[in-house]
Amino acid sequence: MLLSCRRAPERFGFGRPAAAHEIDSMAIAIRPDGRGLPRGSGDAVTGQVIYAAKCAACHGVTGREGSSPRLVGDTGKTIGNYWPYATTVFDYIRRAMPLNAPGSLSNDEVYSLTAYLLSANRVITEKTMLDSARLAAVRMPARNLFVNDRGR
Ligand code: HEC
Repeated sequence: MLLSCRRAPERFGFGRPAAAHEIDSMAIAIRPDGRGLPRGSGDAVTGQVIYAAKCAACHGVTGREGSSPRLVGDTGKTIGNYWPYATTVFDYIRRAMPLNAPGSLSNDEVYSLTAYLLSANRVITEKTMLDSARLAAVRMPARNLFVNDRGR
């Protein structure tokens, strides 16, 4: 039997253009150099408390022993030995974690969790207070292990 294939209409007649504030709420990407980082701040001590409540169930009490990817340590691909940019840690946690409630963390909570994970990986000290400028200035141990496609 032959099936006829009709061309799609030009308009389907549903939906509406996205409003600017709707686009803004989803356009949350942070660049490696820190562009896009929001206001706020946090430190590792505060982050450890949040981590214990919202992350440890899957990633383990110290970030090494959970059922989900290892976040801390020198073996395997962890934040400390594999991630080239500290700003990505913030971006990733804010958009994707905790896995069961992404988008639920405040910016201060994300700064604190980022500080905790960077400190647990010995990239910053436990006392470092992170905000947008300080986070953008953190140089990751794995930074030089990656080569940009464009040779830069
Ligand atoms: C319900 C389980 C669960 C919870 C709770 C959870 N995570 Fe995750 N997390 C995962 C899984 C699974 C992945 C891997 C996701 C993937 O690869 O797509 C992941 C990945 C990550 C990664 C990237 C690891 C890598 O190297 O690729 C980070 C960072 C992270 N989680 C941080 C957190 C933080 C911080 C919290 C607490 C706010 C948290 N997670 C809570 C399950 C969880």
